[in-house]
Amino acid sequence: MQLNIYKDHHTLSLEAAEAILATVKNNPTAVLCLATGDTPAVAYELLVKKAMDEQVDFSHCIFIALDEWVGILPENEGSCHYFLESRLFKPLNISASQVHLFDGMATDLAGECKKMDEAIAAKGGIDLMLVGVGLNGHVGFNEPGVSADLYAHVINLDDITRLIGQKYFQQNTVLKQGITLGLKHVLESKKLVMMASGLKKAEVMKKALEEEINILMPAGIIRMHSQGVVMMDETAATYLTVKPA
Ligand code: F6R
Repeated sequence: MQLNIYKDHHTLSLEAAEAILATVKNNPTAVLCLATGDTPAVAYELLVKKAMDEQVDFSHCIFIALDEWVGILPENEGSCHYFLESRLFKPLNISASQVHLFDGMATDLAGECKKMDEAIAAKGGIDLMLVGVGLNGHVGFNEPGVSADLYAHVINLDDITRLIGQKYFQQNTVLKQGITLGLKHVLESKKLVMMASGLKKAEVMKKALEEEINILMPAGIIRMHSQGVVMMDETAATYLTVKPA
């Protein structure tokens, strides 16, 4: 695992945008799985800008969802669908045929998981997965205690996730379950970038990176990935004992 610490959120975001761009420049048919949330939001803005400036062609890439809230409509501004559509797919002119998202409204959620697993396998796996970290250490919606042997699955959300998740919604929203790629997908991705930003993530990142790896801290999985890169800003790295020179 590689650890890169940047001076602030903007520099972190720039480097994360560069990592995505580099993947697509090297492999125009790359399969990308990009998290939603506050952490990568600026990185995606910069990515869109740079992709336009440098005329990077995303028209042959495939986008795979990391996760979705169960029971939330795709047009709800708090959905992962809406986030990706408005911040990446529309500005980058990505066509529907390039995108595989979870339908959080599906009546057959197990079927949704199966479809996603099959889509990923059919595309030859995920080339770049970029994830954030929840305050409880979750990755995607792989909550503390989840098995590392799972592919896509439906999961009951942890209390912290249900509470913190409100920040994405304009009104108080009932959040009970998530549908998510599993830690098996995370481990099998060809490259894994984990982003963390801000003092609020400092404690969880210390646990993930320095305490014994265990299922109660899913973000620790990055240390088991041979092509894992942690990208964080200095404030998120506040409590780390060992930092790169
Ligand atoms: C979102 C996702 C979540 C977030 C995590 C951090 O697709 O998978 O695991 O990455 O909850 O969220 P932010 O970045 O809003 O702090």
